[in-house]
Amino acid sequence: MKIISNVEKLREEIKNLKISKNGTVGLVPTMGALHKGHLSLVEKCRKENDIVIVSVFVNPTQFGPNEDYDKYPRTLDADAKLCEDAGVDILFAPSPKDIYDEYYFKNKETTLICPPYDVVNKLCGKSRPGHFDGVCTIVGKLFNITKCDRAYFGKKDAQQLFIIKKMVRDLNFDIEITGCPIVREEDGLALSSRNTYLDNNARKNALNISHALYKVKGLCKKGVKEADTLIDTALAYMENLEVEYAEIVSVDTFEKIDIIEQSTENKALMLVAAKVDSNGSKVRLIDNIEL
Ligand code: PAF
Repeated sequence: MKIISNVEKLREEIKNLKISKNGTVGLVPTMGALHKGHLSLVEKCRKENDIVIVSVFVNPTQFGPNEDYDKYPRTLDADAKLCEDAGVDILFAPSPKDIYDEYYFKNKETTLICPPYDVVNKLCGKSRPGHFDGVCTIVGKLFNITKCDRAYFGKKDAQQLFIIKKMVRDLNFDIEITGCPIVREEDGLALSSRNTYLDNNARKNALNISHALYKVKGLCKKGVKEADTLIDTALAYMENLEVEYAEIVSVDTFEKIDIIEQSTENKALMLVAAKVDSNGSKVRLIDNIEL
C-alpha cells in the first residue's frame, strides 16, 4: 500500500495503477480514526473495484468555529495498518495545505459546493451551519482528484449520504454512490470515531440512543404508525442526553413523515442527534434506524 499526501503524486499513482490493473477505482472518504464501520466500507469497496483508495482527511471546512476540529482524533499510523491489512492500494492522507490554497488560509474562504438551503439547513445542518457545504466541497474535490468510479459512505450519516447522492445527481458526477449499513457494538451503540471521547458514564448514557431507536422500531412493527407518538417514545427513552432532534423522514426525500405507511416504496427513517456529557464536555452523537 502506498501512503500519499500530495495531490499530483496521487494522480500519477492512480494513472499508473489504472494502466497496470485496467479496472475501476473505488474511493472510501474518511476523516480517519478508523473503526469497524469504516472497514466495512473498505471491504465492500475492495470486493467491487480493482483499485481501492481510502482518504483520511480531517476537513476544516466542515467544522464550525466551536466544534471539535482541533481535538478530532488523528491516528494515522493505526489507520495505515488497518488499511494495509484490508488490502487498500492507496491511502491518501493529505494535510490541509495539500487540499486548500493560500487564499483559504488567509481569508478562511474557498469555492464551495452549496446544496439547496432546505436540504442542508435541517436536522444536523440546523445546528451546524455550513457543515454540509464543507462536506460536499471536500467530497467533490476528492471525486475530481481521484476520478473514482464508485464511492462508499456509511448510513449512520444518513443526511450526509442523502446530500452527497443529490450533489452527484445535480452536478452530473459520473460516480456510483453506495451507502453501507451502520455497524454497531454488541450492545447497540453505533460505531463512531467520536465514541473515543466517551468516558464510562457517557458510554452508558449514549446507549440510550440506540435503545430508543430499537424501541421505536419495535412499536412501529406492532402497528404504531403516528410519527408524533413514535418520536415521544424515543424522547422518553433518551434519558441523560441533551436531545438536539428526533425526527422521522422519508428515506427518499428527507421530508418529514406524519404517518408511516405500510408501503415499503417510501421507507421511513427515524433520525436522532443528542449530546452526552463526558469528561466535562459535551459529545454530539447521531444515529438512525429504518422503520
Ligand atoms: O463522514 C465523514 O467522515 C466525512 O464527512 C467525509 C465524508 C469523509 C468528508 O470529510
